[in-house]
Formats: sequence, structure tokens, C-alpha cells
Amino acid sequence: MSAVLTPPAVSADRRAFYEKIDGGNCTPLWEVLHSLVPAAPQTPCKPYLWSWEKVWPWLQEAGALITAREAERRVLVLENPGLRGQSRITHSLYSGLQLILPGEIAPAHRHSQSALRFILKGGGAYTAVDGQKVTMNVGDFVITPSWTFHDHGNPSSEPMVWMDGLDVPLVEILDAQFMEKAGQDAQHTERDQRDNLARFGNTMKPVEYQARSRTSPLFWYPYERTREALATLAAGEDPHSCWGYKLQYTNPATGGWAMPTIGTFMQLLPRGFRGGAYRSTDSTVYAVVEGKGRCRIGEESLAFAPRDVFVCPSWLPYRLETDEESVLFSFSDRPVQQALDLWREAF
Ligand SMILES: [Fe+2]
Repeated sequence: MSAVLTPPAVSADRRAFYEKIDGGNCTPLWEVLHSLVPAAPQTPCKPYLWSWEKVWPWLQEAGALITAREAERRVLVLENPGLRGQSRITHSLYSGLQLILPGEIAPAHRHSQSALRFILKGGGAYTAVDGQKVTMNVGDFVITPSWTFHDHGNPSSEPMVWMDGLDVPLVEILDAQFMEKAGQDAQHTERDQRDNLARFGNTMKPVEYQARSRTSPLFWYPYERTREALATLAAGEDPHSCWGYKLQYTNPATGGWAMPTIGTFMQLLPRGFRGGAYRSTDSTVYAVVEGKGRCRIGEESLAFAPRDVFVCPSWLPYRLETDEESVLFSFSDRPVQQALDLWREAF
């Protein structure tokens, strides 16, 4: 442990000067330079794991306290312990667990913030995006792009829970937030996910297709396909020493990221995997789909099981280990960092 350093006392003449310019909304850079431009990332984000075992009873309790319609979205926000009160899971991203009970509707709205859904429990609820309906199941990754109307409904007989991931803090720092409620709760849906998959999910696209945004025109990535791809990779080659077998979700029309602000990934770690230390500048949120293991990070060991969510902050080395073959979904702000030439990794 290093000793706590007290800053050198400010001389009377400097203090008088600082107070004088403070009245004109100026401040001396030399007093804050080292915290503004540190030698390495200094994130307030802390490593943390939200266990399903603990959170699921709270979600059920929330289900009895408020309807999805009244809440608009019945969500428990996953607040990073280093960012309490800010609705952030990392410095740049928001995440929460959303519950929708049988027969409920979460009414249609749209906003400039982009959202991902990653399904943790249940099957048969839908998200409708700009008139297209997608029925969701465990492990599916679904996108609601910026400024597209979306509503959710659960015609199934069981509760559904998914993890929401949004770029809320990024949009907030840019002061570009807009939101609008639709005139009706549920959108008229003409097409379903088979149509979306047929158009964009087969390494082909309609001949007349013209991109209207940077977000993938494919907005449903079924787990069945992702899982099969990872299993095929695992059967044919050795795992990477840090991340096992890892794929990133792409926009099939461009080969780039599926979402412009949020990078999304799925990885398979073999049973008994002992990953090497890895770090990157994009604080990363993981959701466990299958398996058991742990994330060794700093002084901590975060033991994970299915439906747990954990976060690895920027530039803090971590190792992934498994007791069973495991599949992890993850998301981060990597596309933004790469677009700005900021992203770094080390292993
Ligand atoms: Fe929304």
C-alpha cells in the first residue's frame, strides 16, 4: 500500500489568484492536469457480479409491485458500485434486467439511445421494431436501433427476463437525447423474424437494399446459430489463450459492428479453461449463458453461473476460468473507442 499523499499547500498569493478568477468561471489547469490526463485509465467503474440467485426474487417482487404498463419498462437497473445513482453499469453504458409477465405489454416508444436485448429467461415474448416482430428465446441477441419504435409483449405462459444494454451515458455526454411515445401501445406488425433472417441472415441481402442507418438491418441473432458456430470452431482448433473461442456480432451488410455504439460478442470457453491475463480499454459487461467458472480480477474472484452478469472495468487485467464448458455474451463501447482511435488491449 502506498502512503496517502497530501497535496502541497497552496500559497496565499496563488489562492487569492484562484479565488479571483473563479468568479469569472476560470480555473488553473496546473491544479487538475494530472487527474485530467492520467498515465493510464482511471475509471470509477468497479468489478462486480450480480448473481441471478439474488436478483431473480427481486425481479419477481417488482412484478407484484408494478405493472409493465405503469412502469413503461419494468427494469431493475444494474448500477456499478463505483457509479451509484447514475444508472450506469460502466462509465459509458447502461444496463438493466427487464421482466415482462405473461399477458403484459410494454408500450411502444422510440429514443435516440440504441438498445440491445439479451434474453436470460423464458421464451415466447416478442419485441416489435418498426413494424417487425421478433419472438425471443434464451441466448438470443436483439437490437432496437436508435430512433426506431419498439414495444414488447409476452403472450407466453411464463415470465420473461432479458438484459437491456443501452448507450444512455454516451448519448447524455453528447446532449443528443430525444424520446417519443407512440400513439398506440403495440405496433402493427406485418413481418416476423423469419422475414428479417431471410433478408439479412444468410450472408446475402435484398438487391434493392440501401442502408438507412449504421445499425445492422438484421436485428435478431438467434442463439441456436451462434452456439452452433462456436461449437464448430471449438471442434476444429485450439482456444485462444485469453478468450477461448470468441465471435463478434456484425452488420451483415457492412461486416462492421452490429451497433454503432455498442460492440457485442459471444464466446465459448472449454471446460477447465484457465485464461491468461487480458485487459482492454473498453469496460466490458458479461452475461453468462451456460456453464460455471470465475473471473479473477484485481484481488477478487467473481464466481459465475448461468444468468449472472458481471463487469470488467477498463484496463484492469482479468482472467477467465471455467469448471464447465461455458458460453458468455458480452458488450462494451469498443466501436466508439475504435472509431476515435482510442481502443487498446494487452495480453
Ligand atoms: Fe426503449
